[in-house]
Amino acid sequence: MKGVTLVAAACPVILGTGVAAYNLQWDVNSSNFLDYFVFDTETDPTKGFVNYVDQSTASNDGLYKTNNNQIHLGVDSTTMLDSSATGRNSVRVYSQDTFSSGILITDFAHLPVSVCGIWPAYWTINNQANPYGEIDILEAYDDVAGAYVSLHTGNTCTLSNSGFTGTDVRTDCTLSNGGGCGVQSTSNQFGAGFNAAGGGVWALSLEDSLQLWVFTRDEIPADITSGNPDPSSWDTPLFKFDSNNGCDVASNFIDQTVIFNLDFCGDNGAGGQEWSDWTDCASSTGQSTCNAYVAANPSAYSETYFSINSIKLYQ
Ligand SMILES: *[C@@H]1O[C@H](CO)[C@@H](O)[C@H](O)[C@H]1NC(C)=O
Repeated sequence: MKGVTLVAAACPVILGTGVAAYNLQWDVNSSNFLDYFVFDTETDPTKGFVNYVDQSTASNDGLYKTNNNQIHLGVDSTTMLDSSATGRNSVRVYSQDTFSSGILITDFAHLPVSVCGIWPAYWTINNQANPYGEIDILEAYDDVAGAYVSLHTGNTCTLSNSGFTGTDVRTDCTLSNGGGCGVQSTSNQFGAGFNAAGGGVWALSLEDSLQLWVFTRDEIPADITSGNPDPSSWDTPLFKFDSNNGCDVASNFIDQTVIFNLDFCGDNGAGGQEWSDWTDCASSTGQSTCNAYVAANPSAYSETYFSINSIKLYQ
């Protein structure tokens, strides 16, 4: 899955003021998205009720388009399906290049809106590395209002319980132990609340600490807008993982590939367990399975899309 690394990592230059200046390494927008990202048509490894289409199908069907200088990644919200079908047409794209450090700043005009059946994600992974490392920057399930942030590590890694604003803290990152470590965002940092604020920026900083901020449109720091991001000047992050005994960020999250995907249901995802275990979807939809609901209700997914202004990596 992973592409060739084209961009050599550059160390931040330390200026006289002590402020680290970063160089723009990826400058992705609607004009060059296809130079950076590839459509992945593999069968969903997480067994979602989804059919990931190729770029030409996505373009022809309007699941991928570049209107208003924005990158639209969406799903089929018109076709009725049988629940025995492969799944709903959707997209999964991954970056050709990888990164091991720096600041990844994605400006979204729109995020998927919470609704039963969805399992969208914006995340990074290296599943070929030893150790395995995965950063689920944004992941959402069904009609749960906030997004989830999670780390999954091949090594034994533990999240400390402070220094961030996220709630519902999970502390065990170790892949073999299940759901990962992480937090939940507020409802204003995802879905309808985020979109109503005009969207905004999700900024991941991967240095000695792994930190994630969400800024709605009006909150975006001037140094991001001007292209000189300075995380040291930003407020308390939504999520923070500090390097600690036996688990330093630099060696556990290397050569990360960036992925955007819009899944439905899934064995351990939105629909498999969550449908009846910890969301109200079984009762609110009257459908005992996620697949049956997603198959029969295409119009529920008219707001299941990412609209991206830009993806920038600074190193
Ligand atoms: C889009 O990216 C290109 C190439 O990196 C850059 O030259 C251009 O200024 C960007 N466009 C906008 C609107 O930022």
